[in-house]
Amino acid sequence: MESGASVKQRIARISAHLNPPAISQVEGSCGLRTGNCRAKGGSPGFKVAILGAAGGIGQPLVMLMKMNPLVSVLHLYDVVNTPGVTADISHMDTGAVVRGFLGKEQLEDALIGMDLVIIPAGVPRKPGMTRDDLFNINAGIVKTLCEGISKCCPKAIVNLISNPVNSTVPIAAEVFKKAGIYDPRKLLGVTMLDVVRSNTFVAEVLGLDPREVDVPVVGGHAGATILPLLSQVKPPCSFTVEETEHLTSRIQNGGTEVVEAKAGAGSATLSMAYAAVKFADACLRGLRGDAGVVECAFVSSQVTELPFFATRVRLGCNGIEEIYPLGPLNEYERAGLEKAKKELAGSIEKGISFATK
Ligand code: NAD
Ligand code: LMR
Repeated sequence: MESGASVKQRIARISAHLNPPAISQVEGSCGLRTGNCRAKGGSPGFKVAILGAAGGIGQPLVMLMKMNPLVSVLHLYDVVNTPGVTADISHMDTGAVVRGFLGKEQLEDALIGMDLVIIPAGVPRKPGMTRDDLFNINAGIVKTLCEGISKCCPKAIVNLISNPVNSTVPIAAEVFKKAGIYDPRKLLGVTMLDVVRSNTFVAEVLGLDPREVDVPVVGGHAGATILPLLSQVKPPCSFTVEETEHLTSRIQNGGTEVVEAKAGAGSATLSMAYAAVKFADACLRGLRGDAGVVECAFVSSQVTELPFFATRVRLGCNGIEEIYPLGPLNEYERAGLEKAKKELAGSIEKGISFATK
């Protein structure tokens, strides 16, 4: 017969996800005590926080991360609705322990000890808007969240999804610099959806399974800054001029295609959650020490004269271990690169001056 105290303790543990832990429940900067963790006995995994977890991207992203065996602790932070999303997700019979955090006063608790922080917080586009039109609202949101990261998990890898990525990544870098914790290897703007779309659209044209196709996409994440390198597609193939123009245009406007189809109800959420999980999983496999983990991301870079640029990067125990050069470009891609760099320069500068003003 169990004692009343041990029954109470067990019930408290089972319902722990509904009550965010007090700071006293965490040990220094290394996350939750295994004693408080329902996944004890399972293999140790990584601690992941999702900021903006109750949103259109956040909810499917949280669900897919709860299914990822590399995740042992999943923190859900938002300014609305996290209790409901947390209660719902926590009933999934997978290993990760889920906890919800609501509102600014719980941001720090959400972040303490995290290995990976994924940020889809912020407003999405409506038809007729550019990603840059989101700057005024999202820049401030990203700045505040990154200040929290600087304080509570300065060594975490950050996957930044909030638009305009071409400006929010430079903002994050400036916040981290100001706090004295900036490690360019750990800050990655998520451009994976461009790769996911490119693989899909190219596979359609080639009549292949998209899972067999790999298209590097470089530059940034907005309009002409999204530069698919169709001359470097794997498996090796060639396209007519018409195919190249059609594919480049569809890839560059993939986000707008979804925004218009949703007709005011937001932008890509499900494909983005899929892409975000694919990318986060790559970061976690890198952290685990897997060899040969290579994905495209918008990162601090010396590949061009710009301070940030998206290219293929190799992920490892410290985040980005290697940044690959662009490789040989054809004439069409060289022209696209010049156009992309011009637009990117302005967006990067806008982010830096916002964060340093
Ligand atoms: P959404 O409005 O459905 O969800 C955003 C969530 O962020 C909401 O739950 C909101 O409460 C939350 N939020 C707002 N302010 C916050 C704050 N200060 N702290 C924490 N959470 C906060 O929007 P969505 O469709 O999920 O899109 C989110 C962002 O992702 C948008 O900026 C969108 O443009 C961007 N996005 C980027 C990509 C990409 O490829 N990088 C793809 C799709 C969307
Ligand atoms: C996308 O590419 O789908 C996102 O950046 C969202 C958007 O506004 O297009």
